[in-house]
Amino acid sequence: MTLDTRSWDRHASWSEQVAVAKRPAMRLIRQMLQLKSGDRVLEVGCGTGWTLPALSAAVGPEGSVVAVDYSPAMVARAQARVAREGLSNVRVIQADAADMPLEPGSFDAVLAMYAISATRDVPAVVRAVHDVVRPGGRVFVMDVHLAPSTSPLARSLRWLYRRMYDWTGVNVLAELTSVFPEVTAVDGKGRRVERVPDAVPVMNALAIKNA
Ligand SMILES: C[S@@+](CC[C@H](N)C(=O)[O-])C[C@H]1O[C@@H](n2cnc3c(N)ncnc32)[C@H](O)[C@@H]1O
Repeated sequence: MTLDTRSWDRHASWSEQVAVAKRPAMRLIRQMLQLKSGDRVLEVGCGTGWTLPALSAAVGPEGSVVAVDYSPAMVARAQARVAREGLSNVRVIQADAADMPLEPGSFDAVLAMYAISATRDVPAVVRAVHDVVRPGGRVFVMDVHLAPSTSPLARSLRWLYRRMYDWTGVNVLAELTSVFPEVTAVDGKGRRVERVPDAVPVMNALAIKNA
């Protein structure tokens, strides 16, 4: 599939600005992925790469971080950040998350922040993520959760997402659950959530591949 990168290219500048507001999520990301020195981490749809300094530090010089995004403008910003901060264990590549040039089973952990829902083929991206993580590896996803909700807020956001980002409306949590044997929805503190409420427009999920 040929992807049109223009929509996300246009958002690269403000995405860089709003990333500051997402920094508190780093604590939950570290907790969920249980990163340790030497780990190999993949970030799907890294945008401007705001997570990369923290991921780089968490895996240390023995570890590695690969960040994938298909928007050239996002990739340029993420690469500039990597160069500016001297993150020698981080590589940023431009690729479609549904078709990544990566070895199967070659990552201990995968992160996707508001990225899987932004792709044109959510089921293919979820399968690709499952493919590249090693058996027993952990996948942490924060994403919009608009598909099943009928709340006025979710309906407005759905309209906005379709207009601004060509959002396909596929339910990311349901796709993860159909591919990974173990998926746990968690709240902002990492506590298990039995059922993600319909009225909540975002969700966090930890998926683990069969060991
Ligand atoms: C909402 S932004 C989130 C960016 C970043 N994770 C963050 O939290 O700031 C979604 C990102 O997904 C990227 N993206 C969309 N479709 C993609 C695809 N098929 N493959 C790789 N990246 C994609 C966009 O270019 C954009 O950078």
